[in-house]
Amino acid sequence: MADLTTEFLGIKSPNPFWLASAPPTDKAYNVERAFKAGWGGVVWKTLGEEGPPIVNVNGPRYGVIHGPDRRVLGLNNIELITDRPLDVNLREIKQVKRDWKDRALIISLMVPCEEGPWKKILGEIEDTEADGIELNFGCPHGMSERGMGASVGQVPEYIEMVTRWCKQYTRMPVIVKLTPNITDVRYPARAAKAGGADAVSLINTVSSITSVNLDTFSPEPSIDGKGSHGGFCGPAVKPIALNLVAEIARDAETRGLPISGIGGITTWRDAAEFIALGCGNVQVCTAAMTYGFKIVEEMIEGLSDWMDQKGYTSVSDFTGKAVPNVTDWQYLNLSYVTKAKIDQDACIKCGRCHIACEDTSHQAITSMVDGERKFEVIDEECVGCNLCVDVCPVDNCISMERISGVDPRTGVEINPEYANWTQHPNNPASKVAAE
Ligand SMILES: Cc1cc2nc3c(=O)[nH]c(=O)nc-3n(C[C@H](O)[C@H](O)[C@H](O)COP(=O)(O)O)c2cc1C
Ligand code: SF4
Ligand code: SF4
Repeated sequence: MADLTTEFLGIKSPNPFWLASAPPTDKAYNVERAFKAGWGGVVWKTLGEEGPPIVNVNGPRYGVIHGPDRRVLGLNNIELITDRPLDVNLREIKQVKRDWKDRALIISLMVPCEEGPWKKILGEIEDTEADGIELNFGCPHGMSERGMGASVGQVPEYIEMVTRWCKQYTRMPVIVKLTPNITDVRYPARAAKAGGADAVSLINTVSSITSVNLDTFSPEPSIDGKGSHGGFCGPAVKPIALNLVAEIARDAETRGLPISGIGGITTWRDAAEFIALGCGNVQVCTAAMTYGFKIVEEMIEGLSDWMDQKGYTSVSDFTGKAVPNVTDWQYLNLSYVTKAKIDQDACIKCGRCHIACEDTSHQAITSMVDGERKFEVIDEECVGCNLCVDVCPVDNCISMERISGVDPRTGVEINPEYANWTQHPNNPASKVAAE
């Protein structure tokens, strides 16, 4: 069986699956049960400064997007950071760390963007013997209106400044948790690195309104007829998270900066994808909230089986393996020409491919051939877009096949060599370069 042990910033855990800072990690009771179920580590629910406890809404705090089978595809929340007293959390963290030495325990923090409060709380948590801290610069609601969370994470100068204070006032590794609610994630990531961050983690939740009740005209979740934006997470945000992770992994200025990947991870496969894009480990929230702590068993078993099949003996064997394959559009190979091909034996003749291609693509799939209902690709029209593959309800019924020689659509001989947009004769910039 493959060895799933990971070492992230020198912090060892028996597997790369950590629980993200959120309700699953809110108290010792949860964290101990999570560790018993097999989670490799946790980031404790974000702690704030000492004082009167945080006040949450007393009504619904979640909005949800369901798939047709009522599976949770996306979760929106308007919860704030922990509403439990600081001293209670610190006592529990210390006890849990003492009892579970082989698991990673990171403390998430969010205090006002001033040096004093950061220095104070770092002093207060030192005694817990936790393995590290994560700076919550990500929550997009509630705390951000008070100048914390995403309102810090959206200003690279603040990120750098606070990270620097943290590096100055704690011996613990510092992970900076980034918000996706920005235009270019490379700037906050670079700022974290400049401030001395040991790693970044991403993503926190995406600002969102999940739905509007058409009887009351209130956004959901509705609190006495009103709603506010919340933070969206779960499977629907995974593509956003993967892209932001990849941007940081391949940026020359942050390349090599350790990344903890978060966002929609529900299966071992999701986790493997984040790791392949350069993450040293992953964090999970919605999947645990939806299916319970035991979901980690499937993640561990699935990842381990896949690694055995592939001959990977440790997680680091495939960490970052996909990063060199992420490129900008202009470097994609325009000599790579494909056509759709329908497996007539597998086809159930539902017609979805025809409708999609006919109405919204390139009119390249028949519906009738010689008076019979038949779906065939017309190579002279097919641009290889693969929309038909995506809408076909039968797995592997339509495949995309590379062709060579003359493209029947254009009548032009396909260049056997790699050629991209920067070299293309239609690119005004390539003409300028040639002159
Ligand atoms: C109810 C809820 C509360 C959360 N609270 C926190 C928090 O206190 N601190 C934090 O850094 N992130 C918080 N998050 C964000 C998660 O840690 C995580 O970044 C996000 O949910 C994306 O992961 P997922 O798609 O696996 O859920 C919260 C998420 C949810 C759903
Ligand atoms: S690949 Fe695109 S153009 Fe070709 S048949 Fe499918 S939908 Fe039509
Ligand atoms: S969508 Fe798939 S199953 Fe349906 S007609 Fe097209 S190829 Fe056949």
